[in-house]
Amino acid sequence: SSGTPDLDASKLTIETTATPKPLLDPKELIFGRTFSDHMLSVEWTAQDGWLAPRITPYQNLSLDPSTCVLHYAFTCFEGMKAYKDADSRIRLFRPDRNMHRLNRSAARIALPTFSSDAFISLISRFVNLEQRFIPSQKGYSLYLRPTLIGTQKTLGVGPPGSALLFVIASPVGPYYPTGFKAVTLEATEHAVRAWPGGVGDRKLGANYAPCIVPQIDASRRGFQQNLWLFGEEGYVTEVGTMNMFVAWVNEDGVKELITAPLDGTILEGVTRESVLALARERLPAEGWKISERKYTIAEVKKAAEEGRLLEGFGTGTAAVVSPVKGITWRGQNIEVPLSPGKETGPLAQKFWDWMCEIQYGETKHDWSYVVPE
Ligand code: COI
Repeated sequence: SSGTPDLDASKLTIETTATPKPLLDPKELIFGRTFSDHMLSVEWTAQDGWLAPRITPYQNLSLDPSTCVLHYAFTCFEGMKAYKDADSRIRLFRPDRNMHRLNRSAARIALPTFSSDAFISLISRFVNLEQRFIPSQKGYSLYLRPTLIGTQKTLGVGPPGSALLFVIASPVGPYYPTGFKAVTLEATEHAVRAWPGGVGDRKLGANYAPCIVPQIDASRRGFQQNLWLFGEEGYVTEVGTMNMFVAWVNEDGVKELITAPLDGTILEGVTRESVLALARERLPAEGWKISERKYTIAEVKKAAEEGRLLEGFGTGTAAVVSPVKGITWRGQNIEVPLSPGKETGPLAQKFWDWMCEIQYGETKHDWSYVVPE
């Protein structure tokens, strides 16, 4: 989009709805099923750059059947949340990280990039308008779904000459309403999520649809999620749609928290990055070594057999932290320890607490962005 106008928040126009929706009882919220009154949209054309942003009533999109997003998957997205703190201020969590990632995703599929600051200020205006949809109980939030699609009407395979950036918002409850619920995983043998040189490190819609069949296969056999491996070596990469962490006492007898490195096959999770930063800041004093490096499912199994496996958990925006209690690999079960009588291990609990304290503004931290009124 060089030379054409960038995204400009000062050009925003707002048309409010004449029929505000009733709020649901927070207990009835199902992730991603109900949406707020409005949406934020910005069109882009190759000729004119980013046009004036608009907030309108939530409404259907009208797309010609030839629109390129429908054929060639010109679509990328973000997941972020708006929280209401104890003083009723609205907070976002590290929105700059989401903007950075969306721009990187867009660039990979020939969609236009945009000013992160302008988009954060537009999202701020939007969540201010939608604030009655942000539940105030801890653990609840307004899930935001920024999405960027190619809208050119053509079956020709080429860079889209037009695009639409939009944001919709869904009030959500805690992923595990009754507290943590540790999950069982099945290692997927016949599919890989990502590969070196591929696009597994970008948040493209095209990375998500192919995850469903392996997930169904795992759940048919009674597992909640699938564990993604890579290569002959069986490197552990991700769990379902989340990043994966393992804690063990390593072969050198050192307590180690480990997650796969950003080698192009791992989605750059904001929660992953944040958990790593908190771990590096707060855990070495307790004797922990923090590692971003490759590790294999065979090493996890060996650690379990030798009584060195301490914990396993996934991280993501939706669930924050998702404890794991077992992994089945080639028909054999690897038992992953939890705290006695609990559905979580101590580290997963700690990270969940630390993340929520920051997200809800209970601990002062520059990752928490207070939305201007
Ligand atoms: C996550 O937050 O872990 C996700 O991957 C979001 C999911 C709804 C696509």
